Amino acid sequence: MAEQYDSINARRYDYQRRLEIFSPEKNQVAALSGDLHGLKVMDLACGTGLYSRYAKRAGADKVVGVDISANMLKVAQKIEESAPLGITYRLGDASRMEKIDNFDLVLAIYLFNYARTLSELQEMCTSAFANLRPGGRLVALTINPLYDMRKPVWKGWYSPFTAEYAEDDCTRYATRVESSCITYYRRGFSAYEESLSSAGFEQQEWHPISVPPSLLAGPDASEWIVLEKNPPMIALSAQRLRS
Ligand SMILES: C[S@@+](CC[C@H](N)C(=O)[O-])C[C@H]1O[C@@H](n2cnc3c(N)ncnc32)[C@H](O)[C@@H]1O
Repeated sequence: MAEQYDSINARRYDYQRRLEIFSPEKNQVAALSGDLHGLKVMDLACGTGLYSRYAKRAGADKVVGVDISANMLKVAQKIEESAPLGITYRLGDASRMEKIDNFDLVLAIYLFNYARTLSELQEMCTSAFANLRPGGRLVALTINPLYDMRKPVWKGWYSPFTAEYAEDDCTRYATRVESSCITYYRRGFSAYEESLSSAGFEQQEWHPISVPPSLLAGPDASEWIVLEKNPPMIALSAQRLRS
């Protein structure tokens, strides 16, 4: 998994992630994260640190970004050094993470869709759970179980060029990001719900991505309509209630 993101141009990735095309998902993550003032946040699969920086700027007290790709973390770290916000980055595999702290919020933005098997998905959920304090929350973005490649697909991100059935209720997609081939997985709702429950999470909720009316009325309305009708991503929240 690390090698997929170790060979991409992470600088360019970071630049693209800042573009307005990602504003619907960013709005959703911000809304679900809520007031971050004084909170401890872990950004699992932080990549180049887009949401780590968001959390710190939104008032989080402590932000730790974890990613399996040294290449992505190098850019995150460089950005931190050029404009310090006080974020700590660590190399780590979310499917076998030790407990770092009792976080108030764990972000997992496009992490779960890289779980190659159901047991890996379960392990990722367990890592997130272990790093939350009782009462702490998980906010995730993943591949929408209802995403349908046979319908018009949103061009805002790298569209998959192959889709193959991988295992029960799971499709494996491949997409090209520059010279690297990235594979990721679309699973059904129940795979997530069961993995989260087994890890100990409660109050799981799905949150479709919505496109602001201003964008739907703007010059790129046709593309935004495609996103709204066939969104490739969906948000998921859950809570650790028990200790
Ligand atoms: C699409 S990027 C998302 C990065 C960031 N969250 C964002 O929204 O820009 C997916 C990231 O997941 C990381 N990743 C994939 N599998 C992982 C794992 N098992 N543990 C930690 N990071 C992982 C990749 O290295 C990559 O940086």
